[in-house]
Amino acid sequence: MKETKKLNLTKSLELFDEALKLIPGGVLGARKPTDFIQGEYPIFLEEGKGCRLIDVDGNEYIDFLCGYGPIILGYREEEVDNAVIDQIRNKGFCLDLTQPFQNALAKKIIELVPSAEMCAFLKTGSDATSASIRIARAHTGRVKVMRCGYHGWHEWCVEMKGGIPEKLYEDVYEFHYNDLDQLEDLMKKHGDQTAAIIMTPFGHPLHQKMQEPKPGFLEGVRALADKYGAVLVYDEVRTCFRMSLGGAQGYYGVTPDLSVLGKGMANGYAISVVAGKRDLMMTAASKLFISSTFFGNSLPYIAALKTIEILERDKVLDNIWAKGERFLKKVQAVIDKYDVGAELSGVAPMFFITFRVGEDGNRQLRRERRQAFFTELIRKGFFFAPHHHAYICYRHTEEDLEKTVQAIDESLAYVQETYPG
Ligand SMILES: Cc1ncc(COP(=O)(O)O)c(C=O)c1O
Repeated sequence: MKETKKLNLTKSLELFDEALKLIPGGVLGARKPTDFIQGEYPIFLEEGKGCRLIDVDGNEYIDFLCGYGPIILGYREEEVDNAVIDQIRNKGFCLDLTQPFQNALAKKIIELVPSAEMCAFLKTGSDATSASIRIARAHTGRVKVMRCGYHGWHEWCVEMKGGIPEKLYEDVYEFHYNDLDQLEDLMKKHGDQTAAIIMTPFGHPLHQKMQEPKPGFLEGVRALADKYGAVLVYDEVRTCFRMSLGGAQGYYGVTPDLSVLGKGMANGYAISVVAGKRDLMMTAASKLFISSTFFGNSLPYIAALKTIEILERDKVLDNIWAKGERFLKKVQAVIDKYDVGAELSGVAPMFFITFRVGEDGNRQLRRERRQAFFTELIRKGFFFAPHHHAYICYRHTEEDLEKTVQAIDESLAYVQETYPG
């Protein structure tokens, strides 16, 4: 089987050369070329519409990264953007004081998210996870934190420790998703000093297979938090408004004390939330200063209200689950045809194709297979990130998903032929 023709990325590469002189590393954080496959993926995009992206060289893709998660409906969703544009044109959005949208949005979140009795609105997921930890520490008068999952780029939780004094993270301990024994051991040692257990309620560890909770895992964590008097925080930045309108807590039926929401709720506009029990949330008003010039900017509130209205009105999540489950069944059937170590994990709204290391422990072969697979996909016009799970959004049609199954099939056939075991 012939490899698919390489993309023309001339403009992307030119812009990147220029960016290297202007911006450290050319592009910050998770969007840097080394997080994809250098020389194969575009680095700059021109536009998005529905589930499609066009890069600066004019290559078109069916997208499965969805802006790293916020795009739940689709790019340039007119109803949402029009609501925002109306506000810009008619009333303005950056005023001295708060515009009334925050109350309406808080009411909606309290209605939908089981743990939410009050809400505080911020801008990014990192803002909100950090605020949740500060609330838990202020409320309990304790310092230690148990964490499981990616919670953003702030001092207490980021993986790369450059520039961060150890004292800012030395009280933070990590446990693995679905490893209740590990958390129990940690709590035996530190439980009486633990302010918070923060975790993603659905397992999406970096670069690894996604995991649903083992029976009893979420209930076990809940019980440990209660036993030791720690605040249980669910980081639902990726899962809320995606797994269900009430997040993974609504889906799995275990309720935390605080929840952090973000990504999917405003179809791309920057807003995040800490929501939770009233007594805990009141700590935010009495003991903490949580503020930013831009937290009051009303555009993301309007976008969130409109996005949630559409999610409810058009039963968007039912649509995503139904077509996603049909799609994943087909993807699994395709994966089963090939002996290349490919594995499918996750649930219909968010899934990941990873490659396992063979029995001989050959990591190089796994790397080559992964690289060849995602290279084939991007060349064929399917935007999957090699190191990050995929999302399905409302605007993916059955036809888009059918084409994607076909492309995955051809790409795996190529991998099998080029990198047999
Ligand atoms: C689970 C989770 N928590 C927190 C964050 C941080 O959010 P942000 O990148 O908006 O700061 C992310 C971002 O990917 C996330 O996935």
